[in-house]
Amino acid sequence: MDPGSRIWDGSNGDYALPENEVHVWRTGLDIDPVGLAKLRGILSPDERERSNRFHFEADRRRSVIGRGYLRLLLGKILDLPADGLRFDRDEFGKPRLIPSQRLPLQFNLSHSGDLILIAITIDRAVGIDVEKIRTDLDVDGVAARFFSANERETLALLAGPGRYEAFFTCWTRKEAYLKARGVGLSLALYQFDVSFLPDEEPRLLATRHDPAEARRWRLRALGLSPDYVAALAAQGADWKLKCWDWPPGRLMKDMHQN
Ligand SMILES: CC(C)(COP(=O)(O)OP(=O)(O)OC[C@H]1O[C@@H](n2cnc3c(N)ncnc32)[C@H](O)[C@@H]1OP(=O)(O)O)[C@@H](O)C(=O)NCCC(=O)NCCS
Repeated sequence: MDPGSRIWDGSNGDYALPENEVHVWRTGLDIDPVGLAKLRGILSPDERERSNRFHFEADRRRSVIGRGYLRLLLGKILDLPADGLRFDRDEFGKPRLIPSQRLPLQFNLSHSGDLILIAITIDRAVGIDVEKIRTDLDVDGVAARFFSANERETLALLAGPGRYEAFFTCWTRKEAYLKARGVGLSLALYQFDVSFLPDEEPRLLATRHDPAEARRWRLRALGLSPDYVAALAAQGADWKLKCWDWPPGRLMKDMHQN
């Protein structure tokens, strides 16, 4: 077993989310046409329309499954019907739940390859990013465009196949922080540095746009299979991470009980 995968526990159907915990749910795209149609059925007209806009069938499918699973999960935690949940977006485009009367849940979602990760918290900003490691990428070219000077220098110290993993580790940590803040491209990527050397504690090393910012967030690496890297960023320091495996079969069973 991959050492990083030890953080994942099988879901026992208990969806309780304590205030001082951040929960991450991992699932896949392996679902039959009937299940897919059911998930599609719980989406809002707007979500269905957005998924239809993708050119490729694989992207349409991923979009339906991601939003469908998100609804099922939030519905379970809130004990509300999944198809009745309403979302909007913040000023930077980050999707959010329209405040419910039960819990101020926050969430973020990421997909890559065959994986979907969903992070959920109570009243705490959260961002998550997963990437399938690609070795056909011009990592120096991409780093020149998106990484800070310090990050590029660190990457230049690395050689061999481990460079790709380091590159995607840096990428996912930056992206998780940006997604947590919901700021997208409005925060320049060169303004902050993340750690990404193997065995280095995941953290924001410097936040030149606001030096106090580095202390306001904690980053965590989410161990997956060797083909993937993933990172999580959540506000504050006083939280515990719990990671749940939520196989599609289990999801569909839960959906029937919804
Ligand atoms: C919008 C953006 C966050 C999507 O990221 P991505 O890696 O392409 O895709 P992911 O699967 O990880 O995330 C997509 C999900 O993030 C969520 N999302 C969309 N906009 C978001 C935003 N502004 N902030 C946070 N989350 C957002 C959505 O739930 C979306 O899935 P959905 O549309 O099916 O609901 C990304 O394109 C972006 O703008 N990134 C910041 C800039 C950048 O270039 N970063 C490089 C890092 S080195």
